Amino acid sequence: MKIKEKESIGYLKYELKTFEKLPVKIWNEPLEASRHVAKSIALAIHQKQQDGEQIVLGLATGSTPIKVYEELVWLHKEEGLSFQNVVTFNLDEYYPMSKEARQSYWRFMHEYFFDHIDILPENIHIPDGTVPMEAVTAYCERYEKLIDLAGGIDIQILGIGRTGHIGFNEPGAWETSPTRMVRLDHLTRHDAAKDFQSEDDVPYRAITMGVGSIFKARTVYLLAFGQHKAHIIQQAIEGEITHSVPASFCKNTLIQGSYWTKPQQKN
Ligand code: PGA
Repeated sequence: MKIKEKESIGYLKYELKTFEKLPVKIWNEPLEASRHVAKSIALAIHQKQQDGEQIVLGLATGSTPIKVYEELVWLHKEEGLSFQNVVTFNLDEYYPMSKEARQSYWRFMHEYFFDHIDILPENIHIPDGTVPMEAVTAYCERYEKLIDLAGGIDIQILGIGRTGHIGFNEPGAWETSPTRMVRLDHLTRHDAAKDFQSEDDVPYRAITMGVGSIFKARTVYLLAFGQHKAHIIQQAIEGEITHSVPASFCKNTLIQGSYWTKPQQKN
């Protein structure tokens, strides 16, 4: 094979490691992994369009998926990828949190993704951080029901927190947990402080899809970029399945791929 051809083929660019049931792709750069995931999502959207069907995406916030969203926006603008058949469910939102607040995940998703594509507003679902406390349980049950009514999540994008959380399922979350209100771990609040004026301003609670809701997805991409994630991603994919690392439950599912950049990589 000519060098040029070889370079253009994405699947030759990563190392593949298989830990038990879990395929892990290790890339040199977050951008390469993000492009690969975005292209896989675009292919799945196209496939569903050809079949005249909707596709349901589970979406994450945080620094990890930003490049995936940028890539999907690029595919929309430059290659005409349409999102009209896409339904989305976001993993989580701080509680309490207004949509307009600088730190809201509602705002994050619109700024990085929804405002730049042709998704139908009624197909976007993000947990609402303004629901009155006494209505939260019913709200969460309804969110879970809406996912089921949409046909379940086809592709779930996940980051991982340094506590091993997925969504805001902190250590102690059980495997079948549904969408619900949770308390944030101390380390999670500490890491979130960079987005707030101080750690004291970080909400103590959040509404999150559960571990059970997340791993019902047919395909899951778990992404972890940077040295600071190396330890926890190793525990999640190589270690025991345990409540103290909620991401480790991914080993009980038919996960499609987890992607991480080389541990020595800084980002
Ligand atoms: P990050 O957060 O992408 O900002 O590192 C990931 C997470 O907490 O799930």
